[in-house]
Amino acid sequence: QFDGVSSVWLFGYGSLIYKVDFPFLEQRPATIEGWARRFWQGSHDHRGTPDAPGRVVTLISQPGAQCKGMAYRVSPEVFEHLDVREKNGYLRFTTAMTFDDGGRAEGLVYIATEDNAAFLGPASSFDIASQIARSSGPSGPNREYLLKLAEALRTLGDDDPHVFELESHLL
Ligand code: BEZ
Repeated sequence: QFDGVSSVWLFGYGSLIYKVDFPFLEQRPATIEGWARRFWQGSHDHRGTPDAPGRVVTLISQPGAQCKGMAYRVSPEVFEHLDVREKNGYLRFTTAMTFDDGGRAEGLVYIATEDNAAFLGPASSFDIASQIARSSGPSGPNREYLLKLAEALRTLGDDDPHVFELESHLL
């Protein structure tokens, strides 16, 4: 799929911001337009179990919204590894990204859409936080995922009200 391409930008907005277990050539904070981060995807294989799924982030299309994340320039082979790590309902597409210095590039991003079997969708922030607080899976407690993401977003200088409200319920 990436024949002849020496590197590709990957935009991470969830665990890819703080859990970087793949090689990259360059790393730059970036923003994408028209998307909002939401804990609307169920996780039965990482932060929950099939009987008690946890909640992890996906992006929802929202005109006027911005989502801050971390962009990684990676070699095409890295995607073979990531496609395995990120199964559980995610697909990938290409979007424009703006770097903090104003530069722009196209990047790949993984999202879980509402037509995947693990999608959970909206709930009150109290209910989402309660589900996160009681869930745990092979990758660890769901609460750790949320707290690490919130910490990473603070470091990036992002002010994501959805994530920080959920975090406040756990603290
Ligand atoms: C992300 O951080 O961008 C991400 C991580 C796992 C699945 C999908 C997206």
